[in-house]
Amino acid sequence: MKPTQLESKDGRIITTRHANPKDARDLHSGFRQVVEEGLWLPTLAPNASVDDWVTWIQRTHHCREVLLVAHVDGLYAGHLTLQPEEWTASQHVAKLGIIVLSDFRSIGVGRALMLEAETAAVKRAFEKIVLSTFESNSMALSLYESLGYRIVGRRARHFRMPKGFIDEVLMEKALDV
Ligand SMILES: CC(C)(COP(=O)(O)OP(=O)(O)OC[C@H]1O[C@@H](n2cnc3c(N)ncnc32)[C@H](O)[C@@H]1OP(=O)(O)O)[C@@H](O)C(=O)NCCC(=O)NCCS
Repeated sequence: MKPTQLESKDGRIITTRHANPKDARDLHSGFRQVVEEGLWLPTLAPNASVDDWVTWIQRTHHCREVLLVAHVDGLYAGHLTLQPEEWTASQHVAKLGIIVLSDFRSIGVGRALMLEAETAAVKRAFEKIVLSTFESNSMALSLYESLGYRIVGRRARHFRMPKGFIDEVLMEKALDV
C-alpha cells in the first residue's frame, strides 16, 4: 500500500503508511508518552522494548496484523494497530487500537489513520472492526461515532485507573466488503 497524504486542519501534510522496522523507536516512545499521560489507556506501565516493536512490525509484513504510522510534515505523530480476534471463528474481526501524540491531536491525524485502517482491513479480509474506549474519552468517542462505529455495550467499572474506576464502552463497525 502506497503512503496516503491528506491536509491537516492547520494546513500541514499528514502521511499515513504501513510501519517498517525503522519506525520502531517512534512507536515505542509514542506509546510510552501516551501511557504516561495516565488518562486514555488501560496500560499502566508499558513493558515492550524497541526490539519487541521491531519484531511486531516485521510480523505485520507476513500476517494479517496491521500497523499503520502517521507523520505530520515528516514528524511521527501517531499509530494504529489491527489484530485478528483470538477465536478461530472470529478471524473476520479485527481489534483496533490507536494513539496520537498530544502535540498532534485535533488536526485530523486520528481520522486519517482510521480511514486508512478501513482500507487495510478490507485488503486483509476483515469484515468488521471492534474497539473499546474509556467512557470518559470524549475525543475518541466522537471520532469513532463520526466514522460510523456504533456502541454495542458497556462494561461497568471495568478499569481500575489511578484516579478510580472507569466504564469501558464497546464499539464496532461492519465493513463494506
Ligand atoms: C482519540 C484520538 C485517537 C483522536 O485522534 P485526533 O487526531 O486527536 O482526532 P482528529 O483530529 O482526527 O479528529 C477526529 C474527530 O475526533 C473528535 N475530536 C478531536 N479532537 C477533539 C476534541 N478536542 N474534543 C472533542 N472531540 C474531538 C471530533 O469528532 C473530530 O471530528 P471533526 O474533525 O469532524 O471535529 C487522539 O486524540 C488520541 O490519541 N488520544 C489519546 C489516546 C487515545 O485516547 N487513544 C484511543 C484510546 S481508545
